[in-house]
Amino acid sequence: MDKSLLAVNGGPRAAAPLSPQPSKLGREELMELIGLWEMSPDVRRKIEALLAGDTALRGPHLFRYYNPRPSKVAEAEQLFARYIGVPHALAVNSCTSALIAAFRALGIGAGDEVIVPGYTFFATAATVGACNAIPVIADVDDTLTLDPRDVARKITPRTKAIAVVHMRGAPAQMDELLALARRRRLAVVEDVAQACGGAYKGRMLGSLGTIGCFSFDYYKILNCGEGGFLTTSDEWLFTRAQSWHDTAACWRPNRYATERREGELFCGENYRMSELQGAVAVAQIRQAGRFLKGYRTNRDRILRALKLPGNVALRRLSDPKGDTGSTIGIYLPDVEKTKWALQAMKAEGLPAGGLYDAQVKDWHIYPYWEHILARKAVAPDGLPWSGAPRRALPKYSKDMCPRTLDYLSRCVMINVQWAWTADDCRKVASGMNKVLRAL
Ligand SMILES: Cc1ncc(COP(=O)(O)O)c(C=O)c1O
Repeated sequence: MDKSLLAVNGGPRAAAPLSPQPSKLGREELMELIGLWEMSPDVRRKIEALLAGDTALRGPHLFRYYNPRPSKVAEAEQLFARYIGVPHALAVNSCTSALIAAFRALGIGAGDEVIVPGYTFFATAATVGACNAIPVIADVDDTLTLDPRDVARKITPRTKAIAVVHMRGAPAQMDELLALARRRRLAVVEDVAQACGGAYKGRMLGSLGTIGCFSFDYYKILNCGEGGFLTTSDEWLFTRAQSWHDTAACWRPNRYATERREGELFCGENYRMSELQGAVAVAQIRQAGRFLKGYRTNRDRILRALKLPGNVALRRLSDPKGDTGSTIGIYLPDVEKTKWALQAMKAEGLPAGGLYDAQVKDWHIYPYWEHILARKAVAPDGLPWSGAPRRALPKYSKDMCPRTLDYLSRCVMINVQWAWTADDCRKVASGMNKVLRAL
């Protein structure tokens, strides 16, 4: 072999040029996406014709990192951080992921305890267990958010954090909870899945605690199908959350560099958000102000027209101004009357829902968190339950938080819609008044 023929020695290149590869993502994928919209066949034909004539159509790069175009996920992070009023926002693929990344960033693991409310979506408690830590369930009060007095009672030497959930659009009692956390040196993880855009005493939810976790799944105030954000003012926690969310380390300025500080690198997971979700999230965040104004205007219209009898009370709000307005909760005097009012309101066409019925399973209420109550483990190591001495484990039972069950079983909630007209709100209020008058 004449070595001078090798390309490294100046010889001809054997494998160049190869033909340029078209993007795998092109017209067909774009039409599938466009097909997600409800549109007339006529409009669809016009779009198809337009795309067929475009010879320059190149496919998108849907991975946020190493992207030749400015990343939509990065843009969504910037917009969201500005909206929430924090220096750092990390886009992830769900709020469940955001919660795990938050607990992991805080260094929470086997033997640690995290206090969670007995009324929240199961994910808040399950993610504690998924981090090998132990969820300790505390009561909610008439705000339907954590009762600070019960949280104080549940703190042990193993408690590392309080997972504060701003349930059904309303802020939790942050002054009391933050003061307690400061006194006992605990982290506060805000679960803002159901209250994106809400505030407490002038500060956006997700900016008050140590870390905020948001859901952008389809049913939330802002959504991109599936998605979430983690927010924080703490640069080190942000670095560690990034590390957990992308163990491939694409997020690092120099991917293979050694740790810049002890604790930056560890075995994490992959919660990266795709550019598809990022693009939708950008458009949603831009509309947040419009949606929030709609919810709040419509809540106020209904509340102004509502005539509550003496034995019916509104859900207490820790900060009425900060409430998102996406729900209106009322308490009835007893369970029988609640069931009757709920049925009667539904019959009137009202978007009313009950919060607890002992006959109906619902993963928002702790008695149905069977994997936790029965201390299920994923592996023979028995974690998270084997992480603490048996006698130190919380005593779970279906009736461990009776006050929570009492409030939930007497509450009827109206789901307010942001796009209702004044007439819709008038109808909702008069339907509620009609039923409550007959109570
Ligand atoms: C309070 C709360 N936390 C966490 C989650 C989990 O969010 P995701 O579906 O984005 O994982 C939800 C979703 O319903 C929720 O309501």
